[in-house]
Amino acid sequence: MGAERRTGSNSGVTDRLFTKERKPTTPALAVSQPSGMVLARARAARSHRVPVLPVALALVVAALLVTGLAVAYGHERTPPAVSAVTATPTVQVPPAPQRPALRDLMPSGVRIGSAADGRWLSLDPEYAELLGSEFGAVTAENAMKWGNLEPSPDVYAWTGADQLLTFAEQHDQAVYGHTLLGQNDVPKWVDPAWPAARLRTVLRDHVTTVVSRYRGRVWAWDVVNEALDEDGSLRDTLWLRKLGPGYVADVFRWAHAADPGARLFINDYGVEGRTRKADGLLAMVRDLRRAGVPVDGVGFQSHLQWDDRPRDLVGNLRRFAQLGVSVAITELDVRVELPETPAKLDRQAALYRQVLKACLAVTECVSFTVWGFTDARSWIPGYHEGYGAACLFDAALVPKPAYAALIDELRRLPPRSGGVSSPG
Ligand code: XIL
Repeated sequence: MGAERRTGSNSGVTDRLFTKERKPTTPALAVSQPSGMVLARARAARSHRVPVLPVALALVVAALLVTGLAVAYGHERTPPAVSAVTATPTVQVPPAPQRPALRDLMPSGVRIGSAADGRWLSLDPEYAELLGSEFGAVTAENAMKWGNLEPSPDVYAWTGADQLLTFAEQHDQAVYGHTLLGQNDVPKWVDPAWPAARLRTVLRDHVTTVVSRYRGRVWAWDVVNEALDEDGSLRDTLWLRKLGPGYVADVFRWAHAADPGARLFINDYGVEGRTRKADGLLAMVRDLRRAGVPVDGVGFQSHLQWDDRPRDLVGNLRRFAQLGVSVAITELDVRVELPETPAKLDRQAALYRQVLKACLAVTECVSFTVWGFTDARSWIPGYHEGYGAACLFDAALVPKPAYAALIDELRRLPPRSGGVSSPG
């Protein structure tokens, strides 16, 4: 990795991510929001900087005192009334400050991200606005999966992935590529009856084509996703059966050859606490590293349930970090058994907080990603019957207690480590 030492609270870790040049936020999405919209962010406020008369300033201060505190962490989506200010005809004033964005409170060296789908970026401006303003990284929820990218042999459908990348670059966000080889994402045209050599070629070509195309634009890849069984052994897949256990190392090597600067992760679920599966993953990563395979990080999906009690999150993340890899929370959501109740949402908030705390407690934790940020677009109801309400914002994009818990946790950080929107 082209590496440079990080500054801030996690100064021991190196990562090319943190040398990335910041690009300007797209003015279109940052400032041209519907007037009733929630989140004219601090960032938007900065881009509105204009000379302001002292009188107007006094009015702003007065208006803030009355209304600002009330909305700072409330669940109110309407901006505070600033009629006294907006009525002043000749003076342009900055929008009233709103609550801080998550990305603005993250410590240096840790990105906060969300999975996202390019479709909604154009269809739903409020979704796009929140994604751009709250998060410093995005993960392609589906657009970069093999079956979606290469629907027929050698025919690539780049549009969805490209859209997300463009959005991310316009919003100074890192892109987390998901995923080069996932257990559920192999296209139908890949025929299990093919001889091993052909399967290997098809897999290698896919990995090489995708990683090369996005070379330098995707900061980290989930190279192999969900490779392990619940007992910690390699899952019984076509690849294991046909290519043998060495397929994992091969995919990492091909990805590294195609973009030596990308950070390469192995990603799985059910490994965030100390489980048998986590033990297996630990052993596997240790072996891969000893064999010189370019595994840079371990991703902990963290699809949790509101009444889960993951065992020793911090200790578990640390034992992986001790292997010399980065760790990342890659797909956090906390599903709630429906109907949701205030008590369940509070418990959910506590879990979100606990996972963030664990990441922040481990120097090598480089990113904290939620699997979608709004209940309106979450995968949970479609995949976990009877569950839902798993995200930080509800279906109307109103922040939930879980969002407030993350903000609260971030505001407790010592000042020296807060206030940097993204480590780059
Ligand atoms: C899910 C997406 O969120 C859904 O939209 C899609 O239909 C199925 O896949 N672990 C993973 C992700 O690694 O790829 C899955 O994403 C969620 C579980």
